[in-house]
Amino acid sequence: MRIFEELESEVRSYVRSFPVIFDTAEGSYLYDDQGNKYIDFFSGAGTLNYGHNNPKINKAIIEYLQGNGIVHGLDKATCAKRDFLQKFNDTIFIPRNLSYKIQFTGPTGTNAVETALKLARMVKGRSNIIAFTNGFHGLTMGSLSVTGNNFYKDESFYMRANVDHMPFDGYLGPDINTVDYLRRFLEDNSSGIDLPAAIILETIQAEGGVHVASSKWLQELQILCRELDILMIIDDIQVGNGRTGNFFSFEESGITPDIITMSKSLGGGLPFAMLLMRGELDQWKPGEHTGTFRGNNLAFVAATEALTYWDDENLSESVKYKSDIVREELKNIAEKYPELDAKVRGKGLIYGLEIPQRGFSANLAKTCFKHGLVIELSGAEDEVLKVLPPLVIDEETLKEGLSIIDKAIEQLLSKKKDALTKKIA
Ligand SMILES: Cc1ncc(COP(=O)(O)O)c(C=O)c1O
Repeated sequence: MRIFEELESEVRSYVRSFPVIFDTAEGSYLYDDQGNKYIDFFSGAGTLNYGHNNPKINKAIIEYLQGNGIVHGLDKATCAKRDFLQKFNDTIFIPRNLSYKIQFTGPTGTNAVETALKLARMVKGRSNIIAFTNGFHGLTMGSLSVTGNNFYKDESFYMRANVDHMPFDGYLGPDINTVDYLRRFLEDNSSGIDLPAAIILETIQAEGGVHVASSKWLQELQILCRELDILMIIDDIQVGNGRTGNFFSFEESGITPDIITMSKSLGGGLPFAMLLMRGELDQWKPGEHTGTFRGNNLAFVAATEALTYWDDENLSESVKYKSDIVREELKNIAEKYPELDAKVRGKGLIYGLEIPQRGFSANLAKTCFKHGLVIELSGAEDEVLKVLPPLVIDEETLKEGLSIIDKAIEQLLSKKKDALTKKIA
């Protein structure tokens, strides 16, 4: 590991949580350079919904490269882009009766978020944006301004201009409807909150601790946005692409966002991001918002192949089936160890196990890793163990991963009891 410590910036992060050198990966498994095998409950933070080295996606990429297909084309018309647009329209838009224009942005999630904020401000001629407590939208300037967690906001030159954070669904407890709360601020000329160009949110706050917005809350928020002429931006970067069991995370709620940001698993594992916007919002002048790596053609090929998972209901149904397994097993774990006061939240194949005791979740993730499970934390204080397996994981591997969490908790608690007994003795 010395080369990483010597040459790579202190900013490195996941290498600290998983201090081995990963070498190969297949499906839901990672292998290190010593041949050790790990179950992946992290999925590249939601980038590997279709699994590592998905054979169908790899085959499409290899064939494209072997045929000397265009890899980099700026935003020129290419066959790979044409095929992606056609497939997205046929597989995603038409069956859902949706109509959006597509804008390819730089290939990371934060590029799509920056673009969404810029577009909303331009179209509405207003500068304020409403974001939510515990939201996470990326770490470049604009995206950072709508991200909640202060940990990321340490730069002294950072201007937190024109963004107000409001309470997400459930933030003020189960009895307070935070859409009503927001409405009060927006309808009062003297509240100090400017009418925003847009409201940006995740339907499930993934990095923020797996907080799930209810369908009712999303519907009421959409009504508020429409009444007050505010654009609704859904950031579907982490929980879109099937994570909830439907392609878009908001489908169950029946809302129709004005703008949708997409990235992560969209590219089947390759860097790719884009924005969907209602047609009348597409007010860009040609070339007004560009970028060298918009719509990388290899990612188009991977993405087009990945979309074949949405030709039928199989993936969707299997996610919903596996979701029940995860929820039940996490609930069993929470009941088995009442001293943890653990809470289970989630939907589809994103679940959080919140353990309030400071530092316990961090130790738990570490112990899981020792037992061969790659799993990460989320929440303001890293208090939530986030279960995020590839959507294509098989039932046996899923159950094996969940049993590692159980085993690791048992081990940590018995260590604690032993330490206490020794202290008393
Ligand atoms: C909801 C959401 N939006 C935006 C981002 C930023 O994406 P990226 O890290 O690719 O810039 C993330 C990353 O985790 C995310 O979860």
